[in-house]
Amino acid sequence: MLTHTLSEKTQFYLQLEEDFGAHNYHPVPVVLERGDGVFVWDVDGKRYYDFLSGYSAVNQGHCHPRIIKTLITQAQKLTLTSRAFYNSLLGEYEKFATQYFGYDKLLPMNTGVEAVETAIKLCRRWGYEKKGIKDGEAKMIVCENNFHGRTTTVISFSTDPQSKSKFGPYTPGFVTIPYDDIEALQAALEDNTVAGFLVEPIQGEAGVCVPADGYLSKAKQLCEANNVLFIADEIQTGLCRTGKLLACDHENVRPDILILGKALSGGTLPVSAVLADNDIMLNIKPGEHGSTYGGNPLACAVAIESLKVLKEENMAANAEAMGKLLRDELQQLHSPFISLIRGKGLLNAIIIEHANKDAAWELCLALKENGLIAKPTHGDKIRFAPPLIITSEQILECVGIIKDSLKCLL
Ligand SMILES: Cc1ncc(COP(=O)(O)O)c(C=O)c1O
Repeated sequence: MLTHTLSEKTQFYLQLEEDFGAHNYHPVPVVLERGDGVFVWDVDGKRYYDFLSGYSAVNQGHCHPRIIKTLITQAQKLTLTSRAFYNSLLGEYEKFATQYFGYDKLLPMNTGVEAVETAIKLCRRWGYEKKGIKDGEAKMIVCENNFHGRTTTVISFSTDPQSKSKFGPYTPGFVTIPYDDIEALQAALEDNTVAGFLVEPIQGEAGVCVPADGYLSKAKQLCEANNVLFIADEIQTGLCRTGKLLACDHENVRPDILILGKALSGGTLPVSAVLADNDIMLNIKPGEHGSTYGGNPLACAVAIESLKVLKEENMAANAEAMGKLLRDELQQLHSPFISLIRGKGLLNAIIIEHANKDAAWELCLALKENGLIAKPTHGDKIRFAPPLIITSEQILECVGIIKDSLKCLL
C-alpha cells in the first residue's frame, strides 16, 4: 500500500477547505492551480494528465486559447444585461446554436441541473397544452441509476440514496424504470398521463453504462408511437465526448428536447441550454420561466466559440479514435484488477475488482502520484475521460502510467 505524503502547501489548501467550506465533496488530495490543454498543474508545479475533464466540461482542453480570448474580449465589453433587456449576442447565439443542432428554438440557462428543470417544465407544459393531460397529472418516465443533478425536484427521482436521503419531501410525478430495458419502457408508456421519457444516452455518473445498440432508437420510436416526448440529457455525453456531436447521433435519434451543459462553455463558466421545436418551446410564455444569468452576453459569446472549436478542430473524430485506442491498450494490460473496460469515444470507465473495497480510491491516489488524475464513482468504478484533444502518444503514455499505478494493488 502506498503512503501518500502531501506537501505542506497542499495540506494548507486542504485544511482551508476543511475549515471554511461545507463538507459536501470528497476530493482526491491534489490542489490544482493551472491548466493547459490535457494538462493541469498543482500548487507545487507538478504536472498531471486530467482524466476527468471537469466531469466532461473541459472537452476542448483547459484554457483553450480561442475560448479564453473570446471570454476576455467579451468580458471587457459587456457581461450581463439580464433578460429585462435585449443584448446583441443572445439572438446571434440562438441562431447559431439552433442551426448547429437543428432545432427551432433554444432556451438558455446556466448549470446543467437548471436545464434539466427547464426540460421538465417544458415537458409538463406540453403535456397539458398539447397532449391534453389533465392539469397536475402529467408524469415523466425516468431511469434507475440516473444522474441529472442536485435540485430537490431532480433528486426526487434519483435512485441513489446518497443523493436523495433526508432531503424530502420529494416532487411527485416520476415513474422509474430500469435503464436499457425496452419492455419496461413499453409497459410504462401505456399510461396516457405520461408526457415524457427523460434519459441519459449513456449513464455517466452511474459509471459509464452504455446501453445495448438500438436501445435509444427503439425508445424514441416507442415514445413517438405513444405521443410522449423523448428527452435526452446530453450534459455529459454531448458535445463530441462519445465520438459524435451527440451520443444520440450514434443511433440517428433526434430528441424532442435536447439538454446541454458542461462543455458548452469549454469549462470556463456555467452555460446550459435546452433545445426544442416551436410546438414544445412556445408553450412557455413571457414571465413563466427564466434566470438572471441565462443568456448573458458573456456566456453567449463563449458558447458560440466553444461550439465552433469542437467542429473546426474535429474533436468528435479524435474522441472516437483515441477512445478506441485507450480501450484497446487497457485491454492489452490484462490486469487481474480490471474486471471491465467500457465506454464510447472518450467517455470510459474501468471497474476495479479487488478484496480491498477502497482499491479504486487507492488506485486513483497512485495515479495521482504518477501524474494522472481521475476520480472513482460508486466505489469501484473509475472514469477515464480526458480532454478530446489528447493525442495517441499521450494516450500511450497514460496507459503506461495506469499500468505502473496498478502495481499499488498487488
Ligand atoms: C447527465 C448529467 N445531467 C445533469 C448534470 C448536472 O449538471 P450541473 O452539475 O452543471 O448542474 C450532470 C452533472 O454531472 C450530468 O452528468
